[in-house]
Order: sequence, then C-alpha cells, then structure tokens
Amino acid sequence: MASNNPQNVDFDDRAEALSLLKTSLGSMELKTPIMIASGTFGYGNEYDRIEGFCMDAVAAIALKGITSKPRQGNPTPRIFETPCGMLNSIGLSNVGVEVLINEKLPALADKKAHVIVNVGGETPDDIIDAARALSYHKRLFSAIEINISCPNLQGTPIGQDFHATRRVVTVIRQMYRRNTVIVKLVPNLSLISEMAVVCEEAGADALTVANSFPGMAIDVFERKPILGANFGGLSGPAIKPLSLLLVHRVRRAVSLPIIASGGISCARDAVEFIIAGASAISVGTALFYDARVCSRINEGIVDFLFEDAKRRGLTCPLPLRDYIGTLTLNG
Ligand SMILES: Cc1cc2nc3c(=O)[nH]c(=O)nc-3n(C[C@H](O)[C@H](O)[C@H](O)COP(=O)(O)O)c2cc1C
Repeated sequence: MASNNPQNVDFDDRAEALSLLKTSLGSMELKTPIMIASGTFGYGNEYDRIEGFCMDAVAAIALKGITSKPRQGNPTPRIFETPCGMLNSIGLSNVGVEVLINEKLPALADKKAHVIVNVGGETPDDIIDAARALSYHKRLFSAIEINISCPNLQGTPIGQDFHATRRVVTVIRQMYRRNTVIVKLVPNLSLISEMAVVCEEAGADALTVANSFPGMAIDVFERKPILGANFGGLSGPAIKPLSLLLVHRVRRAVSLPIIASGGISCARDAVEFIIAGASAISVGTALFYDARVCSRINEGIVDFLFEDAKRRGLTCPLPLRDYIGTLTLNG
C-alpha cells in the first residue's frame, strides 16, 4: 500500500495513530485487527525466537488445533509449495488436550495477546470432548475456535453437515458462558451463508471465514499425488479472492463479527476484508515467508487511513472500525 505523509493531516503521533486500529470481537477488545491463524504458530511460543516477529503487532493468537488425545497426523510429505500458496496435509498432528492444559497454556500466561484455543476432531463427539476438557481451564484463554472445517481428516468435514454443526456449537456454547465462541467455517460450501445462520442460531459469538480450500498436487513421473495423504488444504495469497467473496457473502447473511482467514499478506488485503465485513483478520501462511508481516500490515493500514482521510478532505483519519462492512456493490 502506498506510503503517505501523516503531516498532511492533523495527526502526527504514530502511537496515537496505531490506536486507530482498535477493534473488537464480541467481548474481546483487540488492539489491532490482526490475529494469527491456527496451525501456523505452534502453541504460541515458537515465534519468540524468530527475528522480526513482534507480538505487539498481534491482538490474538489461535493455537494449533487440539484434539482430546494426541495425534500423529498424516503421512509425509505434508507440505508442498504451489504458485502463490501452499498445500498442507498435517492432519491435526498435535500434543493432545492434556499437554496443552498442563504445559502449553500456562506458558502463555504473560503473552501480550489474547489466546484462542482451536478444537478439532474426526467426529462431533471428538470436538465436544476436547472442548469439555478445556472448559475446566477457561481462565487460561480468551476464546475457543471450533474447527469444523479441517480438510485433512477422513470423510466429509463436520462443517458440511448442518445438523452436526448445530449440535456441536450448541453443546460447546453451553459449556462456555463467558469465553468467546468462534466457529471456523468450511470454504468450499455452496450454502456457506445458510451454515453461518445455523452457527448464529446455535449461539456462536463470531465466525472465522474460512479454512484452507481442498486441493492436490501430482508427481507426473510417479503418477501419484505428492502429498502422503493424497489431498491437502490450499492456503496463502492464491486463495485470497475466494475468501474475500466468502466474507462478503457471510456478512450479508448474519450480524456476527467475522474473522477473515485466507491469503492475507499485506495491508491492502486486510483493508479489503474489513470493507467486505470482517472485524478482524487472521494471518497464517504469510508468516512462513515474512516474520514481519503483522507489523507491516499494521503500519500499512495506518497509512491507508491517513491517505483515505486526505482524499476525502478530512482533518483526521477515521478509526478502522468505521470501515467494517462499508462495501457498496456496483449497480
Ligand atoms: C500448516 C497449516 C496448518 C494448519 N492447521 C490448522 C489447524 O490446526 N486448525 C485450523 O482451524 N486451521 C488450520 N490451518 C488453516 C489456517 O488457520 C488458515 O485458516 C488457512 O491457512 C488460511 O489462511 P492463510 O492463507 O493466511 O494461511 C492450517 C494451515 C496451515 C498452512
């Protein structure tokens, strides 16, 4: 996003300018709209040693998807780079809920960001069991994200089944009176708006739109899929226009706050998703090749706010939250 000269408007303190980025997600106050996507940030401390990553730039971190028992995940290879993206078939490899509760969550107590636990599983009851085990330790995290959309498990994702989704969200909502309950939707669902309505009716506080898209890659000489599990989830900039349309459609269907997820890698992407209706944006794959991406997005959004104020002849930039869902369709 083109850099702008803040002196042109009556607002020259950079720290004050960053306060323009404050937003919220239900009862969660966010210092910036940026969250970290589940599965791309380990259990919250792995990036402490990565040069350039700055936790101040992030409002919330979603931890690696957790299941009631530890899981090995899918056979290797589990990662493959594609044009402007990547395929992964991790298959919910994770330490299990017990280790998360006893070791990983306590180590995050002084993080400067909200902690979001992400629960998954092969069946609705698997997800409910993981959520139940975590419900006795609610003070260790701000929100629970229900992953009904993992593309790397056997069979059809739970998030394609209206009845199963309603049940899972209703049951978990009852366990969590105070924590924010987020549901992560399936991207390749023609009835995504209808599924969003089901989640709203079942008591969700927010929706993540959406998970990675199912995809595959083939080794032409072997005539076999490259990924050990045959199929994977496509993420990264390649899917951004697809996710943007989903956010737009879900925004029209429900009034729940939306966390945009899918290919966000720069400030322009972030602003597009906010205008389409997202209250927060989640960064995943971009972190793998640019540890500074979150800081850059914050700075770039501030530049946008100043530039837009200047173009509109305003003396002060407007806060980012005033842009949420301001899209007007042509014609
Ligand atoms: C390696 C990898 C592992 C992931 N694991 C999870 C997971 O455990 N739970 C989940 O809800 N989403 C998981 N995701 C999906 C991301 O959270 C995110 O929704 C998706 O990658 C799209 O965003 P991006 O294009 O910014 O990466 C994973 C993605 C990647 C790349």
